[in-house]
Amino acid sequence: MMKRSKLATAVALIVAGAAATAGEVEVLHWWTSGGEAKSVGELKKIMQSKGHTWKDFAVAGGGGDAAMTVLKSRVVAGNPPAAAQIKGPAIQEWAREGVLANLDAVAKAEQWDALLPKGVADVMKFKGSYVAAPVNVHRVNWMWANSAVLKKAGVAGAPKTWDEFFAAAEKVKKAGLIPVAHGGQNWQDFTTFESVVLGVGGAKFYQDALVKLDPKALTSPTMTKALETFRKIKGYTDPAAPGRDWNLATAMVIQEKAAFQFMGDWAKGEFTAAGKVPGKDYICAAAPGTGNAYTFNVDSFAMFKLKDASAQKAQADLAAAIMGPAFQEVFNLNKGSIPVRLNMSMDKFDDCAKLSSKDFVATSKTGGLVPSVAHGMAISPAAEGAIKDAVSQFWNDDKITVAQGVQNIAKAATTK
Ligand code: BGC
Repeated sequence: MMKRSKLATAVALIVAGAAATAGEVEVLHWWTSGGEAKSVGELKKIMQSKGHTWKDFAVAGGGGDAAMTVLKSRVVAGNPPAAAQIKGPAIQEWAREGVLANLDAVAKAEQWDALLPKGVADVMKFKGSYVAAPVNVHRVNWMWANSAVLKKAGVAGAPKTWDEFFAAAEKVKKAGLIPVAHGGQNWQDFTTFESVVLGVGGAKFYQDALVKLDPKALTSPTMTKALETFRKIKGYTDPAAPGRDWNLATAMVIQEKAAFQFMGDWAKGEFTAAGKVPGKDYICAAAPGTGNAYTFNVDSFAMFKLKDASAQKAQADLAAAIMGPAFQEVFNLNKGSIPVRLNMSMDKFDDCAKLSSKDFVATSKTGGLVPSVAHGMAISPAAEGAIKDAVSQFWNDDKITVAQGVQNIAKAATTK
């Protein structure tokens, strides 16, 4: 009798405990394209399997500018989500506001220090404590090409230099197709621009000009060459590009309307979602002149301080899930990126991801590994915004000369 009631009490306690630990996680992100939505859906599934409730807070708009604006108003109103897609130096800015939660308990239990490249771990920490969890490594300096379009135009494979690229673009144009699929937000212009700077100037120049914002590099003849090359690319885009979302530009390549797109490997998520196979239907190649370099873009979720105990538990579970091997694999298979967690098997990944993984390691040893400025990895959000605007003005207004463009960008780089 006695025994049974003890057991009943124990069971009751366990049930009550489980109920108290199930909580809600509200997650802000901007993953709304086909491939992106599939990827974030995997995180939702994992959280639901742990009994938690997923409250989706998706703010459409590639690159995340709109999401960041909405986030600010929610935090100012004292009502932050549990987690938000925040990356690079912006993590430090949010942490300085005192609004981010300390994730050290989870990080220690899950051994994050041993499972992450040190450079990545440092970005996730504020004053030595984890405040964000990384999900992946995206490579930005890719060029995507449709194999059938290249064949139709008589182009024998992906061009490796800018000269080869323009020769190929000319052939595609003559074949009556669109050489370059491009969209119409400033981050898309800058995604192309930073690949051009990297391809024209090399990794050291990229670091000096776009990361250190060295005025000498920014006003150098190499920068002039980069802007000339950048403008020349525009001549191979279609007139309907302004305002177009990045994934619709990717769709033009997928649907054999356009030959090339310069975009990070979230574009591969779109090819994958459309059932396309790399090496057969499409080609992934480093942007011309950037084969020995790698612009990285690490997505991460910063976690906000919450009051409710069950919400805190759900948040800790979210952090653990993000760094867990199951999520790192399935998410990145869909997203087009590679796991950020070290020592993961790449067996299930395609050739583009395998190349990305190989080049990530190789370039980290040669100095070719550089942060993507277009995707918030390198400089303060204020300077990044100003430079992006200057670059987009140049792209959109042919009346701005190359010399003026150089000056405008150098001036924007002084924004504090
Ligand atoms: C993010 C990617 C996202 C892309 C397009 C980038 O800044 O890092 O995760 O897929 O924007 O929305």
